[in-house]
Amino acid sequence: MTKPCFLGVDIGSLTVKAVLLDAGQRLLTRGVVPAGYGGQEAAEALVARLLRECGLTPDEIAYTVVTGYGRVRFATADEEVSEISCHARGAFHLCPAVRTVIDIGGQDSKAMRLDAQGRVVDFAMNDKCAAGTGRFLEVMAAALDVPIEQFGALALQSEHPVAISSTCTVFAESEAISHIARGVAKQDVAAGLHQAIASRVLGLAARVGLEAEVMLTGGVALNVGVVAALSRQSNQRITVPADPQTVGALGAALYAWHKGRR
Ligand SMILES: Nc1ncnc2c1ncn2[C@@H]1O[C@H](COP(=O)(O)OP(=O)(O)OP(=O)(O)O)[C@@H](O)[C@H]1O
Ligand SMILES: [Mg+2]
Repeated sequence: MTKPCFLGVDIGSLTVKAVLLDAGQRLLTRGVVPAGYGGQEAAEALVARLLRECGLTPDEIAYTVVTGYGRVRFATADEEVSEISCHARGAFHLCPAVRTVIDIGGQDSKAMRLDAQGRVVDFAMNDKCAAGTGRFLEVMAAALDVPIEQFGALALQSEHPVAISSTCTVFAESEAISHIARGVAKQDVAAGLHQAIASRVLGLAARVGLEAEVMLTGGVALNVGVVAALSRQSNQRITVPADPQTVGALGAALYAWHKGRR
């Protein structure tokens, strides 16, 4: 009997994502959980939960592809594929007009340029510096005492964003704190910080060229302030798919589908 499902797992630095597809590439289910230490246990628990939700057993997975920073620790996968390839594949599947994909995760950011067939023709990556990543936003949201889920909406309330001149996360945090101490409104500091991360990310994207359509993936795409700042600064429409955090896992599941189908 042919096995009915295909699994993609993305073990990131902060979260683990998994996507299950059926034989027709249709979405069966997907999920996101905190990675915890290393991500392996969280990944196993997430996959077990998703299979249970669909009434499937591990034996019914035809093929598993794992991607992400923690991919080497997921022993049950059939194959590992790079995050660049998986984000590109997931994004192109969701929107074949996409030519630039920007993934902003917890600890790195990447920009990829695709051709009309969805092949990656160029990419650039920042994994050396927290500025331009979700970590920057988490540090700043904590400094301003705002939940990360509300940080972007707060920035959108600003009418007079402050300029944040430091590019380094540590110095930008001190700068933000000194603005707060001087009585600058919280939303204006938040907006300045969102502009700072947007210009950092656009600097990275400029290395591959920002050809339309531009899609933003990764958890930071859930931040409406980042999406708005990117769009304003680049003068481009930024497409955010329905569940941007799972696009890499979707790409992994699509690789699994291609390898495992008979
Ligand atoms: N609900 C939310 N609202 C706003 N931002 C969010 C939300 N959920 C997550 N984020 C942002 O997404 C980031 C995590 O993104 P993601 O889950 O893509 O990271 P990751 O894949 O584990 O990391 P990496 O790819 O760098 O290894 C957090 O740092 C945070 O800034
Ligand atoms: Mg990631």
